[in-house]
Amino acid sequence: MSADLSVLFTGVRFDNPFLLSSAPPTESESNIVRAFEAGWGGVVTKTIGLHPVVNVRGPKTKFLRADVDSPRLSMKKRAGTALHSSWNWELISDKPLDWWVPRIGRIKKAFPDRVLVASIMAGSGNDTELSHWQTLARACQDEGADAFELNLSCPHMDRQDMGSNIGKDQQLISVVTQIVKEVARVPVWAKLTPSTTDIVVEARAAFLGGADAISSSNTFTSLPLIDPETLEFEMNVDGFVSTGGLGGPAILPLSLAKMGQMTKAFPEKSFSGIGGISNFDHALSYFLLGCGTVQVCTAAMLDRAVGPGVIRGLLHGLEAFLEKHSDRGWKRLEDFRGLRRDRVVPQSEIARPGESDYHGGHDVPEGYAASEAPVPVASK
Ligand SMILES: Cc1cc2nc3c(=O)[nH]c(=O)nc-3n(C[C@H](O)[C@H](O)[C@H](O)COP(=O)(O)O)c2cc1C
Repeated sequence: MSADLSVLFTGVRFDNPFLLSSAPPTESESNIVRAFEAGWGGVVTKTIGLHPVVNVRGPKTKFLRADVDSPRLSMKKRAGTALHSSWNWELISDKPLDWWVPRIGRIKKAFPDRVLVASIMAGSGNDTELSHWQTLARACQDEGADAFELNLSCPHMDRQDMGSNIGKDQQLISVVTQIVKEVARVPVWAKLTPSTTDIVVEARAAFLGGADAISSSNTFTSLPLIDPETLEFEMNVDGFVSTGGLGGPAILPLSLAKMGQMTKAFPEKSFSGIGGISNFDHALSYFLLGCGTVQVCTAAMLDRAVGPGVIRGLLHGLEAFLEKHSDRGWKRLEDFRGLRRDRVVPQSEIARPGESDYHGGHDVPEGYAASEAPVPVASK
C-alpha cells in the first residue's frame, strides 16, 4: 500500500503538504497549471492587490553563489559554486484583480481537488484601504479560492501602511486579519515578516484577529554585496539600490528559529513553514517543529520555474521517511509533526559539563530565589 501523504491543514485537505509559495513560480495561469501537473499539493498565488505596481528596470531576482574552495560570494555566474541565497526586489503581481479573477475560476475548475490559496495585499491607512482587503477576498473566494494568505510581509514597500510595515505593527495585523475574517468563507493565513524582534508578538496579534494559520518566513531584509572591482552593488539600476529580500538556503536556519519560537508559544495553532527548502530533509525540520504544510520558492525558481524536480524529491522523501519509520507506527505526517518542538529551550536548560550549573548568566541563586531558578535539563 502506498503511503498516505495527504494532510488536513486549517480544515482544507491537501494531497500532500508541499506548496509553491507566492512568487514568480505562481505568477501566471500556465505556471500554476504546470505546478499542479507536476504534483504540488497546493499553490499560493503571486500576491494580488488593487494599488498600482511598476517594477524596477532590469532583473528583479538574482542568485548569490559561494565558491566551494574560497570564501568568495558573488552573483556572477561561474562554474564550481553552490547556491547561497536568492535576492529580490520584485513587487507583488503587476496584473490587476480583473486579470486574476477568471484565471482563479478556470484553474479551480480544471483542478477541483488541488488547493489554490489566494495571496492578497492592500493598505491599512484608512477605511477605504481596509475595504480593499474585503474586495480582494470576496472576488477570489467567489471564483473558488480555497484559502487566503494575507501578505503582511513584503519587505520592499515604500508605503508605510503596506506589506512588512503592517507585519511590524501588532495592532494593524489584528485589524487587517479581522477585516478579512469578516467576509471570508475560507481559512485565512497571515504571512508574517521575519524582520521583527520577537515574532511571537506578531503571531499573537494575527491569532487575536482570527487568523487560522501563520505562514513564515517571507524574505529577510537585505542588500546585495558591493563588487570589489567596480565598487557597484552587484544588483543596481543606474548605480542605485534599495533594500530587498533574501531567500534560499541562507535563510533556512534563520526561518527555523522564527518558526521554533512560534510553534512553542502556540503549540495548538497551525503553521506553514517557508524559507530555504529544497529537499525533504529541509521540510522535515519544519514538520518536526510543528508545521502542517511547507512552501517553496527559490528552489522552484531554479528548477524549470515551477520545481518539477523539487516536488518529485519532496514526495519521494516523505514516502521514504514514512516507510523507514513504519515500525514506529508512523503512517502520515500528523504522526511525527511537532516531535522536536519541545527540544528548543532556554540556554540555561542545556546540560553543562560534569557537575557545573549555569543560571542563564545570573549569580548562583541563594535562599528564596534558589527555588525559582530554572532546573537544568540534565537533573530533570
Ligand atoms: C522573486 C520573488 C518574488 C516574491 N514575491 C512574493 C509575493 O508576491 N508575495 C509573497 O508573499 N512572497 C513573495 N516572495 C517570498 C516567497 O514567497 C518566500 O516567502 C521566500 O522567497 C522564502 O522562501 P524560499 O527560501 O524558498 O525562497 C517572493 C520571493 C521572491 C524570490
